[in-house]
Amino acid sequence: MTDISKSPARIAGMFDAIAGRYDFLNHLLSAGIDRRWRRAAITSLALTGRERVLDLCTGTADLAIAARASTPRAARVVGVDFAGAMLRVGQDKLLHGGLADRVTLVRGDAANVPVCTMSVDAVTIAFGIRNVERTADACAEMHRVLRLGGRLAVLEFAIPSTPLIRAGYLWYFNHVLPRIGRLVARHQAYEYLPASVGAFATPDEFVTLLRKTGFREVQARPLTFGIVYLYTAVRGD
Ligand SMILES: C[S@@+](CC[C@H](N)C(=O)[O-])C[C@H]1O[C@@H](n2cnc3c(N)ncnc32)[C@H](O)[C@@H]1O
Repeated sequence: MTDISKSPARIAGMFDAIAGRYDFLNHLLSAGIDRRWRRAAITSLALTGRERVLDLCTGTADLAIAARASTPRAARVVGVDFAGAMLRVGQDKLLHGGLADRVTLVRGDAANVPVCTMSVDAVTIAFGIRNVERTADACAEMHRVLRLGGRLAVLEFAIPSTPLIRAGYLWYFNHVLPRIGRLVARHQAYEYLPASVGAFATPDEFVTLLRKTGFREVQARPLTFGIVYLYTAVRGD
């Protein structure tokens, strides 16, 4: 049985171990669709060019970079993650892309964000919330740091509900993906991935949690047959 415990040391260690192969595997295992999912998240923020965006669980900074690569784009982006090796890969990409002046990567915990209250215009988190040990604390932090009316965009995997798609997806997720992951990354992280998706909140449960946290206009939009959900919300009072 796959261990799905989420102590910060275990999760950070796991991502540190696969950091060098993370981007390659992400694009390979999703057939490149992951870029489209991140673009959808950024589009949902309706950026105007003036926003300060906080990207939690930023990893190798793909979503942070997407926020600066979009038109209009974010004015500034801060990415937070507790896995140092993931941040180093992200920092290299920022330097090579000439983005380091407007995107800052910081080591920190999504459940205790090193950012002032109501100081950002948008918060994003892609494929990260499922890994956070204290999900409710991270949601409370996203709410705390957002200004009134600020937007939230969360991307996370889900299990599709249509029977045929669900069956094909579960087969790929449980049998193909872990094998490729083990072969390329030489790590059991890609066994943890399907197990952690199965154990995470359903879209309805996550919507309820966001509402309970104080977000309004909470919406869950299925992407690619419901493999991934884009959750959007606005900070109320
Ligand atoms: C699957 S990766 C996603 C990375 C990136 N957002 C993307 O779209 O590719 C999950 C990331 O979340 C980070 N993470 C998980 N729990 C965290 C926490 N409590 N605080 C900070 N980072 C966390 C991990 O270190 C890892 O880099």
